[in-house]
Amino acid sequence: MNKLKSDEVKAFYENWDVSKYPDYLKLLMEFEENLIFKIILEDDFFKSLSKSHKNTKILDCGCGFGSFYNLTKDFDTLYLDFSLNLLKKFKIEKNKICANIENLPFKNGIFDLILCINVLEHVDFEKAVFEVKRVLKTNGRAYFIVVNADSIINDEIFVDWKIPHNLISKSDFKSIETDDFKIEYIISFYFLHPFFKLFPKLILKRIIDLFFKNDEKISKVLKFKGQFLICKMVKK
Ligand SMILES: C[S@@+](CC[C@H](N)C(=O)[O-])C[C@H]1O[C@@H](n2cnc3c(N)ncnc32)[C@H](O)[C@@H]1O
Repeated sequence: MNKLKSDEVKAFYENWDVSKYPDYLKLLMEFEENLIFKIILEDDFFKSLSKSHKNTKILDCGCGFGSFYNLTKDFDTLYLDFSLNLLKKFKIEKNKICANIENLPFKNGIFDLILCINVLEHVDFEKAVFEVKRVLKTNGRAYFIVVNADSIINDEIFVDWKIPHNLISKSDFKSIETDDFKIEYIISFYFLHPFFKLFPKLILKRIIDLFFKNDEKISKVLKFKGQFLICKMVKK
């Protein structure tokens, strides 16, 4: 993997303004988000947490402006990002912290669950995963979501960013697996071909709805070829 300059990544995110993106891109980002919500809400470990809301400590690591807030707002959740600008845009008063995933300011074994969504592409992969593992409790889970290096979709809006990044593959996760940090599953999702974004907004929306309903089925056929990967890991 390429060595990335974190000051360049930071400069990019300090000025990141999704509200200026064209409509089709907002729709595609929303499609990814909705798929992530669905996958996590249906996950057994996540469902088991719902019973003990306030005693469950969650870290949304690289939370940006809080796209996944609704997933975690009823738990004892801390939202972390290294961009102050994005944290300011994230309209909650408390529980936000500005820090670097490569050097997390927490003691060992604090969190039951860590979400790390579209962040590992921009950082030192091994350092960041090590830090996530360190601050997880025993039996805690981490959900890592990344842009998939082995995708057959290869939409340039997700793979040709103007910021330093590495695409990540299933084998990268396999390479960091240890006896005390095990992969529970890796699946790929999002199979919308870039061709469809040429369609007008209303038609694109319908096509996206169709792909949303069928994502799991397509994933069974195309296995690890989707645009994104989700890797769920457990700390032993
Ligand atoms: C593509 S955005 C994803 C934001 C959010 N997780 C989401 O999916 O909407 C990547 C995020 O990672 C954050 N980030 C990048 N490098 C980081 C680092 N070293 N430490 C903490 N956050 C970082 C960026 O500031 C940005 O908010």
